[in-house]
Amino acid sequence: MAERFDILVIGSGIAGLSFALKSAESGHKVGIVTKKHQAESNTNYAQGGIAVVTSATDDFDLHVKDTLIAGDGLCDESVVRKIIEEGPKCVKELIEIGLEFSRENAESYSLGKEGGHSERRILHVADMTGKAIETALVGSVNSHPNITTFEHGFVIDLITAKKLHQVADDADISEDRVLGVYVLDVLTGGIRTLAANAVLLASGGAGHVYPFTTNPSIATGDGIAMAYRAGVPVQNMEFIQFHPTTLYSESPKRFLISEAVRGEGALLRNLEGERFMDAYDERAELAPRDIVARAIDEEMKKSGSTHLCLDITAKDEAYLKERFPSIFNACLDQGINISKDWIPVVPAAHYLCGGVVTNLNAETGLPGLYACGEVACTGLHGANRLASNSLLEALVMAHNGADAVNHFMGDVDMSTPDLPDWIDGEMSDPDERVVITHNWDELRKAMWDYVGIVRTTKRLQRAKKRIELLSNEINDYYWNFKVEPQLLELRNLALVSDLVVRCALKRKESRGLHYTLDFPEKSAELYNTNTTLSD
Ligand code: SIN
Repeated sequence: MAERFDILVIGSGIAGLSFALKSAESGHKVGIVTKKHQAESNTNYAQGGIAVVTSATDDFDLHVKDTLIAGDGLCDESVVRKIIEEGPKCVKELIEIGLEFSRENAESYSLGKEGGHSERRILHVADMTGKAIETALVGSVNSHPNITTFEHGFVIDLITAKKLHQVADDADISEDRVLGVYVLDVLTGGIRTLAANAVLLASGGAGHVYPFTTNPSIATGDGIAMAYRAGVPVQNMEFIQFHPTTLYSESPKRFLISEAVRGEGALLRNLEGERFMDAYDERAELAPRDIVARAIDEEMKKSGSTHLCLDITAKDEAYLKERFPSIFNACLDQGINISKDWIPVVPAAHYLCGGVVTNLNAETGLPGLYACGEVACTGLHGANRLASNSLLEALVMAHNGADAVNHFMGDVDMSTPDLPDWIDGEMSDPDERVVITHNWDELRKAMWDYVGIVRTTKRLQRAKKRIELLSNEINDYYWNFKVEPQLLELRNLALVSDLVVRCALKRKESRGLHYTLDFPEKSAELYNTNTTLSD
C-alpha cells in the first residue's frame, strides 16, 4: 500500500531542501527521499560560494555579461537575467534562517573572486560554504512538521500514468503524469511505494561517470536517468565541467582546491616552475574554467607529467588558515603546507552543465515532474558554467519551482489512483556481483579515456560501442535479479554516459566544455543551439 504525500523531493542539497521548506510553508505534506544521510549532497562539498550581486561596484548587467561570456554562445539570456536578478532576494532568505557569510567587517561581506568574474561577488563562508548552507537548511527542514525525510532511500524509478497503462503507450509526454516513485530502502532491502501529485528531482549531477571526480559518491546521475526513462527530454549533456585544480593524489577521490584560491592570487606553474596560463588566455589563471582545464591538460600532455602545481606561497600562513581552513588542513594532511609548498593539482570531473530540460518554473515536459539544481538544464550555464553560479541557480529555481508547484497543486485532480507494489525479480546470485564491479570500472575508464577534456569523433564512437555492450549486460542483470544500490547506480551511470556521448557526437563543433579535434572551431550555425535527446 502506497504512502501518500502532496509533494516528493528527491535529493537533499540546496535545491531540494529549499524547495521542500517553501512547499511545506504553503501547507503541503512533503516527503524528502535522500540516498544517504540528509546532509550528504554535492552542495555539502561546495567550497567557493554563491555568485550574487551585492556590492556597490557590481551590477546585474556585469554578472549577466560574465555568465554569457563563460557560457560561450549557448546561455538563454532571458533565463540568465532572471536568475541573476532574483538572486539577492533568495540569498536574503538563507541569511534569515541563520546562514552567516564571511564578513570584511560589520558593514560588508567578504566577497570572493573566481575565474570569469569581472568583479568580486562570491558570498562565502570561508571555504566551507556548502556545509554551512546544508547545516542551516537541514535545521529548518527537521523542525518543520509538514516534512518527513527518508534517509538511505534510493529512488529506483518514477511511476507515471503511462507506465501504469492509464494513458496510451504512444501518448505525448504532456498527456502523461507523474504519480509517485518506487524507493529501495538501502538498510533493509525492502521497496516502498510513495505516491504524490508532484515530484521534484533535486538529485544533483553525475560526476561518477568518471573515475576521477570532486563529487561525493552519491553523484551518479540518478535523476537524469529516471527522467529520461520516463520520456522527459534532456539536453547539453556533452558539457561536463572538469575543475582545473583538484589535489593530485593516488586516490580516485579528488579533493577540490577552490578556484577562489586563484582568485586570491595563486599561480599555476609547470613542474619546471614556469607560469603558462598567459600563453593561453589574457585572463591567465582567472580565465573561465574550460580554458584553464584545457590548458592544464595540454601542458600535462606536452611534458608527460601526472600533475602541475598551484602556488599560493605569496600569502602567509595566518591568512590562508583563516580564508581557506579546509584546503589548508586537507593539504597539510598530505604533508603540504600551502604557505610554503606548491600544491600538486590535476583536473577532475566536477559539474554537469546539461540535464533535464526545464523552464524558469522548474517544470519539465512531464506534468507534475519538476527539476532543480545540477540535475536540471535551465539555460543558465550554456556551454560552460560560470564559477559559483550553481548554488545561485539551485536556490532561485527552488523558489520558482515551489511557487509553480503550489499553483499546480491547486489545479491538479487529487484523486491519484492506487499504485501497485513493486514486483521483485529473483534473488541475486552472489557469483554474478562481479559483473557489477567489473562493469562499473570499465564504464568509467571508457568515459575517462574517450570522453574527457579533449575529444575526437573516433574516441566518442569507441566509447559508444563499449557503453552499448555494458548497458546490455547491466539491463539483463537488472531484469533478472533483486535490485541493490550498486546495480541501480551502475544502470543510471551507463544511461547517463550514453546520453553524454550521444550529445557529444551531435555537436559537430568545439564550444565551451566540448572540445573535439575533429571540429576545433565554433560553428556559427550552432550558436544558441542545444543538443536535445528525448527518445
Ligand atoms: C570552487 O570553489 O572552485 C568550485 C566552485 C564552483 O564549482 O562553482
